[in-house]
Amino acid sequence: MGYAIATCLADNGAEVILVSGPTALSISHPNIRKIDVTSADEMYQASLSAFPACDGAVMSAAVADYAPVKTEQQKVKRAKDNYTIELKPNPDIAASLGEIKKEGQLLVGFALETHDEEDNARRKLEKKNLDFIVLNSLQDKGAGFQHDTNRITIIERNGTKHRFGLKPKTEVAADIVNVMLDMLKRK
Ligand code: CTP
Ligand code: CA
Repeated sequence: MGYAIATCLADNGAEVILVSGPTALSISHPNIRKIDVTSADEMYQASLSAFPACDGAVMSAAVADYAPVKTEQQKVKRAKDNYTIELKPNPDIAASLGEIKKEGQLLVGFALETHDEEDNARRKLEKKNLDFIVLNSLQDKGAGFQHDTNRITIIERNGTKHRFGLKPKTEVAADIVNVMLDMLKRK
């Protein structure tokens, strides 16, 4: 979704900074500058330094909530006992941008929930100081990860909801970008 949104924004004339974790996707567009990262910490640093000069940010990465406390340099050998990996919380990148967001800047988040979808999405919208949140539906067979189609609901801060049908991710990106452009005009 991130790559589709970056492309759609760039096609609409935006200068895009795409902060991306490792992926098989490639992208080449005169309006897109890509910053490659390999950890949540790196994504946090890159996003925090880029955001102040931007009109908005779209947080579409499925960032891990936790990272291992220590990483092994050598292969971990098999043993008979249970094996426990200690995890520490990763920074919440969206919430951090929400804290430094200035008047006129737009912050967009995503949510994929297994229960109480809209209530949980709305809570995240508030907690992270987002302007709108894109709720990915898990109700459909053709939606979510590993599919080329998605069904989304966009929830705005004022409670306005935009429901969309199941469609290809490039068209979903266009729907999201349209709401963004509309909102930027109103800001
Ligand atoms: N997000 C983020 N940094 C993280 C985790 C999530 O910026 N370390 C962003 C995601 O990119 C998304 C939004 O926060 O735009 C919601 O992510 P989600 O995983 O649904 O929410 P969490 O706050 O992590 O809550 P939980 O996983 O407990 O539902
Ligand atoms: Ca999470």
